Amino acid sequence: MDLFRKKHFDLNKGTGLKKTLGALDLISLGVGAIIGTGIFVITGQAAAEHAGPALMISFVIAAIACILAALCYSELASTVTVSGSAYAYSYAAFGEVVGWLMGWTLVLEYGVAAASVASGWSAYVQGLLEGFGMHLPTAISGAFNLSQGQIIDLPAVLIILAICLLLTQGARETARFNAIMVIVKIAVIIIFILVGAFYVKPDNWTPFMPFGFTGVMSGAAVVFFAYIGFDAVATAAEEVKNPQRNLPIGIIGSLIVCMIMYSLVAVVLTGMVPFTNLGVADPVAFALRFVGQDFVAGLISVGAIVGITTVLLVLLFSQTRLLFAISRDGLLPKFLSKVDEKKQTPVRSTWMVGIIIALLCGLLPLDQLASLTIIGTLFAFAVVSLGVIGLRKSRPDLKRGFSVPWVPFLPLLSAAFCVLLMLQLDGSTWGGFAVWILVGLCIYFFYGYRNSELGDKQSKK
Ligand code: ALA
Repeated sequence: MDLFRKKHFDLNKGTGLKKTLGALDLISLGVGAIIGTGIFVITGQAAAEHAGPALMISFVIAAIACILAALCYSELASTVTVSGSAYAYSYAAFGEVVGWLMGWTLVLEYGVAAASVASGWSAYVQGLLEGFGMHLPTAISGAFNLSQGQIIDLPAVLIILAICLLLTQGARETARFNAIMVIVKIAVIIIFILVGAFYVKPDNWTPFMPFGFTGVMSGAAVVFFAYIGFDAVATAAEEVKNPQRNLPIGIIGSLIVCMIMYSLVAVVLTGMVPFTNLGVADPVAFALRFVGQDFVAGLISVGAIVGITTVLLVLLFSQTRLLFAISRDGLLPKFLSKVDEKKQTPVRSTWMVGIIIALLCGLLPLDQLASLTIIGTLFAFAVVSLGVIGLRKSRPDLKRGFSVPWVPFLPLLSAAFCVLLMLQLDGSTWGGFAVWILVGLCIYFFYGYRNSELGDKQSKK
């Protein structure tokens, strides 16, 4: 049994895509994919239960982990320029079983991230409706929890299905649409910081680290979620002008823009409201209501809802394209890579993904979904970091659009950072992740190994 057969991509022929994107385009793409539920929702719980007013430091630590991983992503993305992102890189660097596990982990990352982002969306929609005196019946207002009378989070289910409908119609966010959304999101955050600054009471910042440095670290693992999505920039590698310069500027630039905004939001938020009150579903709008700025709170909610929708679009789009790539290689059933002739989109797989994710976000609470996303993503980043070292050894011949400096030191540091953050997550998150990996291995041994296109080619030789 050859579990480590490696896919040999013929990469030097190029994909024929036009190189049009500059550094600023990449920063805008990144910010568009990054800012969503993390800052608008998860920040509150991270402050209330983990970091307290020191949340800002958690944001900086999480950003450092992301920047390190982002450098590694940039090298692989500018070398293995085929669809499937980290799945394709690991397939090439470490062979089939690792590639499959990576793909399977990314299915978890994108799928569960989309479910978490949809729950955050629902929280803001409900907050906004309440501002107009409208309340949803409890049964359809939140994830399954009979003790509180909740059965399903209906708004979250509906937004997922609506986005699937959009995706199957062939609708893709265009660069222009994305650019407008980026401006809306940044504007909303700046308005929050500027208005909120007037209501900061420095007393709220003491005690600064109520849960000690351990709390700051576990807070970093939680707010790591807020940075997920920058890998979208890496996947545009082939279309970037002068990638050696622009790709790292684009990826690191978008992370730094987000880090600065997130840290300022954390400072203002914890200064406006005692951190113990922040464990609510829509903390940014809540803080403004708390100080009597109801109108601005409404404005922020609308901006957050629009902004979070675009993150959902990117996540669901990536999910279907990833399944497409895996199934094309024969590791998952072929119907997942079937493209509808009329609509030219993978209609069936989009609906299948949509229904599963809708069920997830309808029934499971946001914090559980987010922790699973975080552990899966950190694992993927660790493998990507090591993949840089692996691919330099196995395919030194490939042309690298961008090369990580100080190999193997920097990739090793990046992997270590990811593992350190993974260790901050609780036992049930690790349990969930272990089950996911086991299921993945079973699928591989009972299905993928036998149906793999690569295996077919090798046995025919
Ligand atoms: N970073 C994305 C968000 O916060 C996943 O919604």
